[in-house]
Order: sequence, then C-alpha cells, then structure tokens
Amino acid sequence: MNRSPLDPCVVIIFGGTGDLSRRKLLPALFRLSTEGRLHANTLVLGVALSAHDDASFQQVAIDALVAAKIDEAEATAFARARVRYHTISRDAPDFAALGAHIRELEAGSGLPGNRAFYLALPPRVFASTIDGLGAVGLNRSAGWTRVVVEKPFGKDLASARKLNAHVHEVYDESQIYRIDHYLGKETVQNLMVLRFANTIFESMWNRDRIEAIQITVAESLGVGTRAGYYDQSGALRDMIQNHLTQLLTLVAMEVPSAYEADAIRYEKIKVLRSLRPLTQDDVVLGQYRAGEIDGEPVPGYLEADGVAPDSTTETFVGMRVFVDNWRWQGVPFYLRTGKRLEKKLSTITVQFRHTPVSLFDNFGRGNEPDQEAPPRETADVLVITLQPHEGFSLHFDVKKPGGVFATQRIPLHFRYDELFEGIPAAYQTLLLDMLEGDQTLFVHADEVEQSWAFYAPLFESHPGVVGYDAGGWGPPEADRFALACDHLWKDRWDNKEPT
Ligand code: BG6
Repeated sequence: MNRSPLDPCVVIIFGGTGDLSRRKLLPALFRLSTEGRLHANTLVLGVALSAHDDASFQQVAIDALVAAKIDEAEATAFARARVRYHTISRDAPDFAALGAHIRELEAGSGLPGNRAFYLALPPRVFASTIDGLGAVGLNRSAGWTRVVVEKPFGKDLASARKLNAHVHEVYDESQIYRIDHYLGKETVQNLMVLRFANTIFESMWNRDRIEAIQITVAESLGVGTRAGYYDQSGALRDMIQNHLTQLLTLVAMEVPSAYEADAIRYEKIKVLRSLRPLTQDDVVLGQYRAGEIDGEPVPGYLEADGVAPDSTTETFVGMRVFVDNWRWQGVPFYLRTGKRLEKKLSTITVQFRHTPVSLFDNFGRGNEPDQEAPPRETADVLVITLQPHEGFSLHFDVKKPGGVFATQRIPLHFRYDELFEGIPAAYQTLLLDMLEGDQTLFVHADEVEQSWAFYAPLFESHPGVVGYDAGGWGPPEADRFALACDHLWKDRWDNKEPT
C-alpha cells in the first residue's frame, strides 16, 4: 500500500520516563526517524513526574536507545534534535502549562498543531489525564489531535463502558487509538493477506474444510517485577480478553469490503457478536508451581514478590470457543496462553478435516528408524507462527521414495527472516499507522466492550485455578483443548525449526 507522507507533529508521551517509553516507544520513534518516516520538524515531548530538563531527559532517551542496541552517536543525534521534556505534578497536574509548552515548541519549529498524545500510563490515571487534556482544550487544535491508549482498557465490561463514555466526552472515536500490540505484529497482518489474497486458503476457510483452530500464546517468562499489576489482572485480562481475542477475530472474520479500518472493524465486531456464551466447562484456568525451564529451577507464582500468598490469579488459560455463524458453526476454537511454559511460542494452528477414508493407514510411516515417530495424522495442518520465527508452515503427507510404500508428513514452510531483512517491531508499525491516521490496526470502542461482555461470566464467577509445573505445557486438565496435531508445535517439530 502506498504510504502518504507523514505530517509534522508533536508526539507527547505521558509516562515518558517509564518502561514502555524507554523500551518500546523511543526506539520505535528513533527507527521511524532514521527510516525517513518522521517529518524533519517532528518533535517528541516526554511528560512525566521526574524533575528533568530537556538535556537530562535526552540522556534518558539516549540510554534507552543504546540499551535497545542503537548506535550511541545516532541515538544522541536523534535525542538532541527531536526529544524534549515537560515535568508534570502528580497532585495538581497543570495541563494549561503543558498546553503552553506544546504551543511554544510548535511555534519554535513551525509545526502546524498536529498532536499525538500517547498515554503510556497506569490505567487508573487514563480518565483523569483525558479530562485534564479536555479541560484545557488539548482535544482540538489547528491540525489533528490523536490520543493513544494502552491496554488494559478497563478491567471488566462496566469499567470499559465507563471509560469509553468518559473518553468520548473529550475525543471522537476517530481520534482514539486503542493499542493492542499484537495487531502490529507482521504475521498478524500477514494473516489477512494469507486469507484474502490467496483463494487457495480462503476457499477452504470454513466449517466444511476446517475441523478446529488453536491459538496459542506461550511464554516462558514468569510475572517478573509486574506482580503488583498481574495479580490483579491474571491471564484472562492480560492476554485473553485482548491479544488472543483479537487474533480470533482476524482468523474468523468474513472478507471485509475493503482493506480499511471501518470495514475490518465491522467484520471483527460481527465475530465477537457471534460468540457462543461460555460455560464453565469451556475453560480451565491454571497457576504455575515451581519447576524448571531450560534446566534452571524457577519458583512458583505464589513465591513471586508482590503476589498474595493465597492468590487464585490464573497464569494459564485454556478454553474452547465457538463462533455461531454460518461459516464456523460447530468448529471449536481453542485459545491457550500461559506464563512459565516450556518456551516462548505463539502460533495459530488450523487443522483441516481428515480425509473421509484413510487409504494409507496400513502402510508405514516413513520416519527414519532413529526418529521418534509422531502420531499418525491424516489431517493437513497450517501452522502460522507469530513468534519467535514469524512465518507459516503447511504440513501434509507425501510418499516416501523407495520400494517400501510409506508416507511421510512434511512441512512446506515460509519464514520471514529467511526471505526478508529487518521486520519492524510491532510498536513501530502501530506508531507509524497512528501518525498516518490509519486506525485499521487499532481497537474500536465496540470491540472492547463486546470482548469484555463475552468474558464477563468468568469474572463474575471465577472458575478457580489448578496447578501446573513451570516448564511444561500447562495443566493436564486443559489437554482436552488441544488439537490432535499439537505435537507440531508442542514438543517435536517445532524444536526442529524451520518447520
Ligand atoms: C503484554 C502482557 O500485553 O503482552 C504481558 O501484559 C505479556 O504479560 C506480553 O508478556 C506478551 O507480548 P509479546 O509481544 O512478548 O508476546
């Protein structure tokens, strides 16, 4: 798609000294700048509580960029040219002073009043920050004004509705960019290309041809230093309600009328509206115990700093979801995510229907004698890998050459890093889209509310957690939400990448 030139603007990062800003946003802005995507006059204004001046915050930015493996000289040039700072007080934030500072920067650099406010802030201050901006007129300007809101957007349906209503009092939906960084991942966008640019897949993308779909986001990390947030949130709120549900909508949606925000959001919302209400039987929640990952012992969740000793917060979710529409009636979608699993791996696995008759069941499987034979599979499988190696593989049977009649399952594979150099980070893609005013990869108010509404029964009556050992693949109770072809990603083929 042709990219229109980016408008000159000020990117205002609330939480400018915070982790998200340092680890993701500043490096993403740096890369956009070096790739020539930022207008020469565009400035980045960090806003935070710490008492910095421009020079000392520029040093914070340089350190962050160097930590992101960016050359120090280039980092310094970027920070000195583009990065500025504004201190704001926690107790009596003076938004009028912030407005004056922004106008001063705009006047000094000949900027036309285009503003992007990025709220890299704890959710409890989203509403008050938006109020503050609105109260001093920072919701409109001579150019465009956009506001980027991080997840979590609410903690349940009621709070999400309230927050949406609040935000809409100040900003129009067309100004709001709700981030779900999974939507910025290259393979997630490729999913739409795979589906809608290739008749071979789209013609089979339905209940007649597909038996089940599994979306897995496995992480080997634990909660680290985020226990305070995580213990209040859990995997349902942290991963399922947003990232995995977004992936589900993209896999399941109908062909949009155009590749544009409104058309795509409309189709995603239709999927959310078609979800069959959950029952307790559709869900298994787990919590990791101590275990071993990569040969190293790791403590259990309850031993993490900041976790209540009797916490029942889930660190694993395995669930079955049905999309009750014509395309998907009866096809289970299995969603799974967990912390402290064996490794970091995110996949979407599409299991096609088995052949009606298995002609070759009596013939051998052609694996080498020293190879452990994977279970016999007659269903073709498409595995879309989001990470660590973005790409996909299509697994099917071929005849093994030779006199002895045997079949062998082989993968046809495509990996981004074998063909292309430099896949942009999700935040870079999303920031660029936001600066271009493209909301396609951002989440609409209705999507957020529909998604919270779907999971509401689990928040109203938490099903309780079962334990699982760190370093495994979650509680055995959740195995019923696994595909027969699980071995593709779980413990065999994926270890031998490329698959
Ligand atoms: C975040 C969650 O949104 O996504 C984290 O809050 C999680 O708990 C992270 O670790 C995973 O993102 P990625 O891109 O590393 O898969």
